[in-house]
Amino acid sequence: MNRRKFLGYAAVSLGAGLAGFRLVEPLTRSGTATQPRTGPNPDFAPDVDIQLTARPDAVPILPGRETAVWSYQAEVLAGPQGAVQNLPGTYLGPVFRFQRGQKVRIRFRNQIEQESVVHWHGLHVPQEYDGHPRFAIKRGQTYVYEFEIKDRPGMYWFHPHPHGKTGPQVYRGLAGLLFVTGQEEEALDLPSGDAEIPLVIQDRTFDRNNQLVYLTNRMQRMTGFLGNTILVNGKPEAELNLATRAYRLRVLNGSNSRIYKLAWSDGTPVTVLGTDGGLLDAPVQKPYVVLGPAERLDIWLDLSGRTPGDELLLKSLRFSGASGGMMGGMMGGGMMQRGQSVPQNGDELTLVRVRVTRKESEKRTLPRQLSPVERIPVAEARNAARPRTFRFAMRGMQPTINGRTFQMTSVADDEVVRLNTTEVWELVNDSSGMMGGMMQIPHPVHVHGLQFQVLERSPSAGWESIKDGFVDNGWKDSVLLMPGMRMKIILRFRDYPGLFLYHCHNLEHEDLGMMRNYLVKA
Ligand code: C2O
Ligand code: CU
Ligand code: CU
Repeated sequence: MNRRKFLGYAAVSLGAGLAGFRLVEPLTRSGTATQPRTGPNPDFAPDVDIQLTARPDAVPILPGRETAVWSYQAEVLAGPQGAVQNLPGTYLGPVFRFQRGQKVRIRFRNQIEQESVVHWHGLHVPQEYDGHPRFAIKRGQTYVYEFEIKDRPGMYWFHPHPHGKTGPQVYRGLAGLLFVTGQEEEALDLPSGDAEIPLVIQDRTFDRNNQLVYLTNRMQRMTGFLGNTILVNGKPEAELNLATRAYRLRVLNGSNSRIYKLAWSDGTPVTVLGTDGGLLDAPVQKPYVVLGPAERLDIWLDLSGRTPGDELLLKSLRFSGASGGMMGGMMGGGMMQRGQSVPQNGDELTLVRVRVTRKESEKRTLPRQLSPVERIPVAEARNAARPRTFRFAMRGMQPTINGRTFQMTSVADDEVVRLNTTEVWELVNDSSGMMGGMMQIPHPVHVHGLQFQVLERSPSAGWESIKDGFVDNGWKDSVLLMPGMRMKIILRFRDYPGLFLYHCHNLEHEDLGMMRNYLVKA
């Protein structure tokens, strides 16, 4: 170990006094880390030490030839083996399970032919472990993540985040779930084991040889990729054979740009237990729930009143306002991929076929109370009267935020917030600009480094068809900003100074630069 590094680690272990910090972290004007973490910190004592590799693979998806994918594979080097579950036969995964309060080290090795970096979507971690594109590593290199799990129990996920290549890398298969567990949740005794079922919903397009087809033209890039085949947990035509008991479904919209309006085919209300950042105060019943890219839902499904032989479909119902307006209709509606028309955002889809196949006597009931959600008081925000506004808009063919696009390390003056403050941000989907409002495109907005809360959202394009589908009383890290919508969210900037991202999680928009840094200034 060279002396410079040694001093740096010593300084970190002593509480990162600024003088010591400077030795290892060349500071920009903003005090942001610029060095990738290529080796383990000897002063960090992990509870779990994991090797994670991204590499080419081939998996069976459709009948016939295997599909070439990129896939993460993990192995526990030290600590509880249960922290990692690889999912054989699919590109998805692994599934990580960490206890709140655990210290984890993840040694990410990049074995794909593009640069990459791993982002822990939804987790509250220091900037150098957040997977910012400035830390992307080349094939053959390793990035060492070391952080404590501080978040509430919930389902988070991880995926690549190199600039300009997040869309294609997620599309080729790189994504996994990350569960945070904790006592407050275990005490509720919600369905677990086989009765807790992750559902990762994605859409893909395959060629005649069962190989993945990504964007085929520029228009698709502008609206975002939409595939003609729905995959759930990496498989088409998903079926669940279940018993007459209660289940907990952990749903992630892992699609690049597709939006789902989830509902049960027989009109059973959707019972929601939690959102992006964990459980709600109490269960909420909805006729349907709208799930934009990167959003998660924790859903209770009670089959105890059913009989073997019953069937139920998890559908995505029709809705309007998200298919790109007149332009989208012209560009997308008539679009064909491999001789099949591609369902547009808002078209009806079947996602999962649930079959009740056996009797079970388990008689769990829906808890009345779940986990207290502390509401951030609006009065705590320093700018409640004058929120910071972020306009998500197309400028010609270019998606922008406040008229800007991503630049690797730059931050504008209006993107600097103070550590240990609370702010209200106003998110606006401004669809009026381009082509006289013909270009109506939703923007699923995501903020890195924290969980926030929704204060309010205005009606939008397609409002009547979606208005009952938002679960806005839990912790969120991603929200669907429909065309014409204005939303207020409240955020607390705690613990970690540095450069973090906020962006559109339509991955094609993100790759086109609808992403910016914000700086948390100490
Ligand atoms: Cu899930 Cu910045 O991303
Ligand atoms: Cu994220
Ligand atoms: Cu967008």
